[in-house]
Amino acid sequence: MKHLVIYAIINLVFGKLHLVVTQIDYILKRRQRMKKREKWGSKIGFIMAAAGSAVGLGNIWKFPYTAGENGGGAFVLIYLIFVALIGFSVMLAEFAVGRRKNLAAVGAYKSVDKRWTFAGVIGVLSGLLIMGFYPVVGGWALAYIFKVFNGLLSSPDQIGTIFDSFIVNPTQPLIWMGIYLLLNVVIVSRGVSSGIEKAGKILMPLLFLILIVITIKGLTLKGAFEGVEFLFKPDFSKITAKVILSALGQAFFSLSLGMGCMITYGSYLDKKENLVSNAGLVTAMDTGVALLAGLAMFPAMFAFNIEPAAGPGLVFVVVPQLFADMGSVGLIFAGLFFLALTVAALTSSVSLLEVVVAYLIDEKNMSRIKAVSVSATIMVIMCVLASLSLGGIGPTILGKGLFDVFDLLTDKIFLAIGGLLLAVFAGWKLDKEELKNEVTNGGAVKFGLFGFWYALIKYVIPVTIAIVAASGIYSGFQSGVGGLMVMGVAIIGILAIFSKKL
Ligand code: TRP
Repeated sequence: MKHLVIYAIINLVFGKLHLVVTQIDYILKRRQRMKKREKWGSKIGFIMAAAGSAVGLGNIWKFPYTAGENGGGAFVLIYLIFVALIGFSVMLAEFAVGRRKNLAAVGAYKSVDKRWTFAGVIGVLSGLLIMGFYPVVGGWALAYIFKVFNGLLSSPDQIGTIFDSFIVNPTQPLIWMGIYLLLNVVIVSRGVSSGIEKAGKILMPLLFLILIVITIKGLTLKGAFEGVEFLFKPDFSKITAKVILSALGQAFFSLSLGMGCMITYGSYLDKKENLVSNAGLVTAMDTGVALLAGLAMFPAMFAFNIEPAAGPGLVFVVVPQLFADMGSVGLIFAGLFFLALTVAALTSSVSLLEVVVAYLIDEKNMSRIKAVSVSATIMVIMCVLASLSLGGIGPTILGKGLFDVFDLLTDKIFLAIGGLLLAVFAGWKLDKEELKNEVTNGGAVKFGLFGFWYALIKYVIPVTIAIVAASGIYSGFQSGVGGLMVMGVAIIGILAIFSKKL
């Protein structure tokens, strides 16, 4: 009898819940159809959101350790060249395509030629894959806000070991990752201007300030200058095909390019906005933060005798160590740093989730709520597997754990080839005049370098990316990742064949 009553109650509650959800779903769907495409609330809102997307773990967590693993100065130099010539140009092209077509990535490609749908779909796939490991690291950042106040700094020589054992723990990181992903879901389900924009405005300047504090503190340590040298003095003998592909991948990842993210953002952008200056500003801000993060990490690392190639734990070890001897002031700075890092990560992952969500809304006719739930569910599963793979648990592909697989496929293959496809699309499928009109707002914006930019997009960038990717894949066979890279290319090929069906 008791069971029956409980059963009845559960049924009633869940039945009602289901009804309510369906109802909300329906109302939102109608509202969405009636409203025109959502727009950014203000100009500054757009810049903050685009810069918020760009500035994230890629700058502060990934850039320093990737530079460290790839020999420092030479990598940084190539990265900067790629940012200036390829990054900025591709960003401008993504903004222009997005605003011109007024559609998110897949729709923008599809509206011109169905054979190109796959190029957008690769972007959605990249978004999913990046969201298969990004929230794991976002969860670490979140966890560290609390760890800092829980005695992490009291035993400086243990900080490295604590990180190593934390990330291989089978449960702890999962909980933090779950909370982090939930925050994403909440922001994205509230829609474009209210959610993303507000999140973009909060705490970003704080991050910048704390990085400056860290840099100053780091530079005053003994032996710090070696770190500056390592970062900025190129040793040209270190340049290999692997280093060049890593620099290209880093440029794309850090600027949020090559997966239609900025196409989607551009589609929410007002016709009056100056695309050239927006792209320039976002590129400059992103690169500035990356360099500052490098400058914050390397001097301290050299002073503490930490290996430059120490890997993904770098920020999580160097920053706490740096603040460990500063008493309660250090505690507050370290806490604020990880808070700001978490927020920077959030404004980036929100943009990744948005690409997947926009695809489901525009192409699969889902409501926002449903699109968010579907994508977040897939992401949770991927992230759990990625997180566990760091402890050696779970499936591997061609000998690599899923964390590395997701990172490698996107960073080294999908983003670069996505960028190549976008450049070819803008250069060869769109009309030159149409593009010029969009970039210059019908002539209102002066862009003297239009011809140069157009030549880069049409010829130089596709050829450069093709060469860098091909030689990078070739060299990947020496380090045992060639098979995975070829698999990535094969996936793109298969998607291309079935493009019209996507
Ligand atoms: N750029 C972000 C970072 O540096 C990550 C990111 C957000 C991203 N959106 C993207 C990377 C789109 C590639 C493509 O952390």
